[in-house]
Amino acid sequence: MSSKQRASQTEALRFENVTLEFPGSHRPAIEDVSFQIDRGKFVAVIGPSGCGKSTLLNLAAGLLAPSSGRVYFGGEPVTAVNSEAAYVTQQANLLPWLSVRANVGLALKFRKVPKQERAERIAHWIGLVGLTGFEDHYPRELSGGMRKRCAIARALIYEPSIVLMDEPFGPLDALTRLNLQQELLHLWEEQRGTLVFVTHDLNEAIYLADEVIVMSEGPGTIRRTLPVPFERPRTIGSLVESREFSEIYNDLWGLFTSDVRSSDAA
Ligand SMILES: Nc1ncnc2c1ncn2[C@@H]1O[C@H](COP(=O)(O)OP(=O)(O)OP(=O)(O)O)[C@@H](O)[C@H]1O
Ligand SMILES: [Mg+2]
Repeated sequence: MSSKQRASQTEALRFENVTLEFPGSHRPAIEDVSFQIDRGKFVAVIGPSGCGKSTLLNLAAGLLAPSSGRVYFGGEPVTAVNSEAAYVTQQANLLPWLSVRANVGLALKFRKVPKQERAERIAHWIGLVGLTGFEDHYPRELSGGMRKRCAIARALIYEPSIVLMDEPFGPLDALTRLNLQQELLHLWEEQRGTLVFVTHDLNEAIYLADEVIVMSEGPGTIRRTLPVPFERPRTIGSLVESREFSEIYNDLWGLFTSDVRSSDAA
């Protein structure tokens, strides 16, 4: 087996010295970013607003091309839109003119999955995210949390090789967030695909991820990658009470506040 074949078996996403500068801007959005995410891992990316988290996902999705460096997916350079990636963008991006059923089934329709199978899979996923009974509703008739559930079902339904989620629970209240975090954990623990999850919530990163990539303030660079050693399946309630949880939280908090202190000093 060649080293390239081996790489494509273990590695999902790899950034190699990636810098991205938007045209007309005076400094890069992200600079010299290198990391590797292995298949089947749940990785959280955290960092302050504007540090380049969404830019990083856009590069992974192939929607942006690096100014220098390379992005690889499964060992192959990403040179066009990455069709193996499901992307839940920062704005709940449901199509307003389609019902819940049609939004959830969109990817299956594109992939020409037969009608009967499509209907079964849609019903299954709508059930999993707790939207049974709302199949014929339109996005405007749903609450913020329900829209997020719908977007998550739409992303996971076709079993993509990698899921990119950009602060999917950002604007939600604390209780809804907690419920959705726990649901996402259950869903992912069953599927075990690769998941890259952007958040600026330290707790959320620790609850969910196997590894946390910490980015520094713009231009975004990787400050550190921290492993989260908790066993799975996880229950958020019992994690929060553990001593290891506060230790990891304090580590992350330390990284964050040193960023704030150094920018105060500058
Ligand atoms: N299309 C664009 N054109 C020019 N500059 C951009 C563009 N998109 C993002 N930027 C700049 O790149 C930097 C990184 O933006 P990005 O959206 O990736 O940050 P972020 O970490 O996702 O922030 P947030 O947490 O607020 O969502 C910012 O300085 C932003 O102003
Ligand atoms: Mg963003």
